[in-house]
Amino acid sequence: MTLPDGWDAEEQARVKRLATKLRTDHATQIIAVRAPGRVNLIGEHTDYSGLPVLPVAIDRSTIVVAAANTTGEIEVTNADPAWPSRRFAIERQIPPYETGDWADYVKAAIQGVIDRFPTHALRGASIVVDGRVPPAAGLSSSSALTVSIAMAFMASNQLELDPLEAATMVARSERYVGTHGGGMDQAASIFGRRDHALFIEFDPLRVRAIKMPANAALVVADSRQIADKSGTVRAEYNRRVVECSLAARILGRALKLDGATILGDVVRAYPAWNAVELVEKLAATSPAQLGANLKDAANILGVTQNALDADLLGQGPTRIALDPTRPLEVLKRARHVLSETERVIHAATVLEAGRLDEMGTLMDASHQSLADDFECSTQRLDEIVECARRGGALGARLTGAGFGGSIVALCEVSNAAAVIESIDRGYYAKQYPGAAPENWRAVLHAGAGASVIDMRATA
Ligand code: GLA
Repeated sequence: MTLPDGWDAEEQARVKRLATKLRTDHATQIIAVRAPGRVNLIGEHTDYSGLPVLPVAIDRSTIVVAAANTTGEIEVTNADPAWPSRRFAIERQIPPYETGDWADYVKAAIQGVIDRFPTHALRGASIVVDGRVPPAAGLSSSSALTVSIAMAFMASNQLELDPLEAATMVARSERYVGTHGGGMDQAASIFGRRDHALFIEFDPLRVRAIKMPANAALVVADSRQIADKSGTVRAEYNRRVVECSLAARILGRALKLDGATILGDVVRAYPAWNAVELVEKLAATSPAQLGANLKDAANILGVTQNALDADLLGQGPTRIALDPTRPLEVLKRARHVLSETERVIHAATVLEAGRLDEMGTLMDASHQSLADDFECSTQRLDEIVECARRGGALGARLTGAGFGGSIVALCEVSNAAAVIESIDRGYYAKQYPGAAPENWRAVLHAGAGASVIDMRATA
């Protein structure tokens, strides 16, 4: 059988090894799924405003092997013993583990499928996971996990979804873990294409593959500052989601738009919009900062504080907790998201035309805006970005949510070694004297998206 694109020889050997660890009971079918992580080239913190992004799926993936079982339970084992095995019942509403448990991403994926197929009698599954996307590095190991689990669980139950619908389902389901994320990571993992970047738009989800110029190389370097989304990073991330939504609501009201809740609603209502004008309009309507108790925001919006609170922060286990001592930054966040959207749209054009210099300049500007207006960079990310530029990168920026994690640098293929050398010398040698940095940075390639195989057919 011909395998879908993306399965290299090493991954095929891995699934065969994993299958031997699987308790198969009476299973007639063994499913294997590979789902890649992603590196975002540009369009950071725009997806949850319904605005476009430009990532590539990477050639680092999570592999899962699954077989249906008759226990009504999900039994999941990780090839890495650092992540303990877990078992839980399939029920209409699966209760989460304690915050930070890796298997909450498994539960999120299963819950997403249950919600999508509420009347289907779903069988349990035994699943073995082997993740090769570096965790907490801003390369979306969590979405590689949720996408692979959701696809394996659907396949072991003979369920299929159109990829656009699957990406939307998994994006929504990942919010189960308490991060109010957008849909970039899941769409990149599902729609990845070898040698292509992905211009992804939302509401409704649309994906256009853009060929990476042959002379372009992507150097990805991990700052090794943990960007674990379950702790303070989650609180910071969710805070940004609230700030952006407030900006959208205020702008929407100023422009007499009914029901705008994300900046994408505003942008879509004005095809001839531009960032400077919208930010000026916002500045004329709202103070730059608003109190975290939402009182002033409710006044501006002409709604009650309670109603705004419930609408913005949600209810139940995934309710967003805001640090009440810090003001909400409305203007700066909107300025980043709107200017970044202009950069993404421009980037799609210049990348397609192979104008790498211009692409690099846009990436540099994105980093600046993330550092100044979105305040999600760190000193260590700034340093590593600087090292990449000194080594001759055409542009460099933090990638993913920030607050730690990785940077991506765009360079000419012929210059990639010099960029890496500059990062090794200027960053790793200083932060980790004497350590070997080989596993912390690499040239990554745009790779294929997630796919499912039936293991019997490959035996
Ligand atoms: C995380 C989220 C994405 C996106 C990025 C920031 O990776 O999972 O949805 O918001 O942060 O661009």
